[in-house]
Amino acid sequence: MEIFEEYGIEFLVRYGHILSGVTWIGLLYYFNFVQTPSFAGFEAPARNESFAKLVPRALWWFRWAAAATVAFGLLLFVLGTDDAFEDMKDMRTLGILAGMLFGLVMFMNVWMVIWPNQRIVIANAEGVLAGREADPAAAAAARRGACASRTNTMLSIPMLWFMVASPHFLSSGAFDTSEGGKRAIWYVVVLAIAGIAEAIALRAPAVGKPEAWHIDDHKRTIIAGAVLTLVLYIVVELLFG
Ligand code: HEM
Repeated sequence: MEIFEEYGIEFLVRYGHILSGVTWIGLLYYFNFVQTPSFAGFEAPARNESFAKLVPRALWWFRWAAAATVAFGLLLFVLGTDDAFEDMKDMRTLGILAGMLFGLVMFMNVWMVIWPNQRIVIANAEGVLAGREADPAAAAAARRGACASRTNTMLSIPMLWFMVASPHFLSSGAFDTSEGGKRAIWYVVVLAIAGIAEAIALRAPAVGKPEAWHIDDHKRTIIAGAVLTLVLYIVVELLFG
């Protein structure tokens, strides 16, 4: 059966990667575009009940889908790379490494920032429902989680662009990546963007004190992600076009 041949196995890994990626990013968009703006209008008891009974379930699928996406994605990379050193020089790999870097930053934000902070928020909601005192640290934890979540939403836009563009557009042969110096500039630009985005994610402003430059609503998040994608594409054209 063709599906158990080498090509079929790679296809199954690709399918698993996209299925888990859709689950992860679908929930990320649900949190940012639907849940957070809706919860802002909830009364405190309804919000606490949602945090205690709905959010843990959503976060379970969210973080494990993120882990599955990364596992399938790394496997896909290994299966698709015939000669690791030579492949590093073509546009398809240059593009997919950028997408993977953004994806890995997002994955770390899920497990190391969003989830630990949301656990504080969930524990607070459960405590209040059980009649205990509210945790004064919960609001700041929610803020830190939300900032990382917005950064992930922003990064998801160029991340998915590179996932799909690398095998279907950047690999067209139209891009010349033969100059090592230009490839080095590309990696510096991509690393700098990931570093700046992560610095913004970790430097959450204090509760109730939004800062003008901070991406603090979902419309700005979408615009920032689209602008970032366009800038990165222009850099590709300037360097390799
Ligand atoms: C750290 C996270 C990720 C890693 C390591 C990763 C890795 C990869 C790799 C190696 C490929 C193959 C590219 C090629 O054939 O040249 C790929 C393709 C793809 N990835 Fe990811 N990925 C990640 C996150 C995501 C996420 C979150 C999504 C969301 C749905 C996603 C969706 C896709 C899609 C749609 C493709 C294109 C498949 C195709 O048409 O060939 N990836 N990814």
